[in-house]
Amino acid sequence: MIKVLIFLVWPSTLMSAVRNILVTSALPYANAPLHLGHILEYTQTDIWTRFQKLRGNNCYYVCADDAHGTAIMLKADEQKISPEEHIKKMQASHEADFSDFLINVDHYHSTHTDENKTLVNLIYKRLVDRGYITQRAVVQSYDSKKKIFLADRYIKGQCPRCKALDQYGDNCESCGATYQATELINPISVLSGTTPINKESLHYFFKLSEFTDYLKSWTSDRHLQTEVSNKLREWLNDGLKDWDISRDAPYFGFKIPDTLDKYFYVWLDAPIGYMASFKALCKKHDINFDAFWSPESTAELYHFIGKDIVNFHALFWPAILKSTGFRTPTEIAVHGFVTINGFKMSKSRGTFINARSYLEHLNPEYLRYYYASKLSRSIDDVDLNLDDFVQKVNSDLVGKVVNIASRCAKFITHGNAGVLSAKIHNAKLLEKVSGVSDKIASLYENRDFSGAVRLIMAQADSINEYIAESEPWKLNKDPRNKQEVQEICSLGINLFRILMIYLKPILPKTAKASEIFLNDELNWSGITEPLKNHHIETFSPMLKRIDKKSINSMLASNSVDSNETSTTEIKAVVNLKAVEEVNIEEFQKMDLRIAKIIKAETVQGSDKLLKLTLNIGTEKRQVFSGIKSAYRPEQLEGRLTLMIANIAPRKMRFGTSHGMVLAASSETGIYLLEPDIGASPGQRVT
Ligand code: MSP
Ligand code: ZN
Repeated sequence: MIKVLIFLVWPSTLMSAVRNILVTSALPYANAPLHLGHILEYTQTDIWTRFQKLRGNNCYYVCADDAHGTAIMLKADEQKISPEEHIKKMQASHEADFSDFLINVDHYHSTHTDENKTLVNLIYKRLVDRGYITQRAVVQSYDSKKKIFLADRYIKGQCPRCKALDQYGDNCESCGATYQATELINPISVLSGTTPINKESLHYFFKLSEFTDYLKSWTSDRHLQTEVSNKLREWLNDGLKDWDISRDAPYFGFKIPDTLDKYFYVWLDAPIGYMASFKALCKKHDINFDAFWSPESTAELYHFIGKDIVNFHALFWPAILKSTGFRTPTEIAVHGFVTINGFKMSKSRGTFINARSYLEHLNPEYLRYYYASKLSRSIDDVDLNLDDFVQKVNSDLVGKVVNIASRCAKFITHGNAGVLSAKIHNAKLLEKVSGVSDKIASLYENRDFSGAVRLIMAQADSINEYIAESEPWKLNKDPRNKQEVQEICSLGINLFRILMIYLKPILPKTAKASEIFLNDELNWSGITEPLKNHHIETFSPMLKRIDKKSINSMLASNSVDSNETSTTEIKAVVNLKAVEEVNIEEFQKMDLRIAKIIKAETVQGSDKLLKLTLNIGTEKRQVFSGIKSAYRPEQLEGRLTLMIANIAPRKMRFGTSHGMVLAASSETGIYLLEPDIGASPGQRVT
């Protein structure tokens, strides 16, 4: 009988067996400090990792600095220090940001290390031995003054298609054309100002094309979000080209064995950096490296990355691993880009926020919570809307969660010497709040953090309703109700405890403070074991409201720090000069109207103007507008804007401009005015 029982129990213990998981985030380049875009990714990875650990899994999180490449070499040159010195400084800054944002990596490494060099050489040797490396001559732009081959971003010139000036070597920001750097008209090396020459050199290629079929099946085998595999299918259907993995000296990186002046392209050694970082961790903690990286490994491997580097991780990397006898990733977790108040992060728009500027003014947990509330499996961009940020953090975390403890704790401390009662006042509510634990776990597991946050906050709402309806503060006025007050508030504290277990991966510091207050370690298993007859400490708020002023000081200091143009808001104020008063009659002389931009075109020979065709209700108008530096034509077509329709027509070199569209402008940029949703072409502004 006993034997049978053991046999029956065995499979279920197997199912809940501890998982071995290795997690990575994309390695930040060692050429600049981290910004709030990076922090989205590192927060996402950290929350997921902390969740796995909270569930009792054996989960490691490693990262490193991506230390190689031309950009880093030139950055060091600029400062007149060695690349080694430069990357050391950057790594220290990155590690400090990780730690202050509570991003709990098990190891932080660098790609410029012995571990990485050994692994890179091993992988390269296997590639050579197995016939996956080929060589051929490549013609590239070369700066003969600086004696260096020029990557696309170091060459500028005129677009071969639309003739726009000052365009980079790979694509035109004005007309969107893509081309080879060698096709630019009047190309100039950004490094020396001289005209590049075309020069041939020998390059080494990885035969990626041989893996097209393998990758077609790999990318549609649950390793990627559907959106991502659909995108990749388009590329894969066109067939893959071989991948150029060498760069000529001077280059900061690892030299290719048996060559004099060839280096591994940074994107070959960067992902190998994941293995190198883990290798260093293995050494520190005596972990079996092969158990995680051999093709037979039963461990899981997750790479968290942004959508801009999908091809490296979902095509090149699995092919390299597959061809050199290593396991391939379980999943590549892809996220979208951070925008600030709806805008791309941009220094000139004042929407670029350094991680450090944030930390100097605001609590990291605010941002961790806000990002969590927006992260899902989608690869859509994630907007950090600063008003919404303040509102959400204050109302959810302070107004809902911490408030529960704050309302209940004092009655326990004063009424019962800090001891929670043994009886559960409302078992149904406790069951409801603890009953969603599996659902919350599965939302975390599937990286639907926004879903998890919504469900947790719905519980917080129910708990607050319960407290409001029970009114312990009223009951407490009559000593005969003492018992009931204790039971209500004890349940309140227990429910707060469950919420904090749910939120622990997102708010590690608040969870720690709650553990001290509750006199209890927050574990997932504790969800079904409420605290009874248990002593708690005196309450003090573990999280304060965001003061809006800190946001403004952050924006102001960020723009000073980065030595770039100031925030839009601040600049706008500085730019407001006194203008003469007008009376209403004068104002009404203007025929201000809503116009629809039907067509927007570049103007040959002008680098400032765009030619707009507008529908102004009564007729079509042609207007030339000096907004080219801020908008590409295709961004404008279909948009509504405001125009002065009765301004006198003006003859220009390119044609007649009849009317004027309205835009705000300062050094930070140009911003076309747009009416609220619902307005239609021809409506007058009165
Ligand atoms: N060094 C490479 C990654 C090598 S991984 C083997 C790199 N570095 S990076 O510093 O440019 O970016 C690091 C990560 O941050 C990438 O996943 C990138 O997508 C992410 N982000 C960079 N800017 C971002 C936003 N604005 N928003 C969200 N993520 C962003 O790429
Ligand atoms: Zn162009």
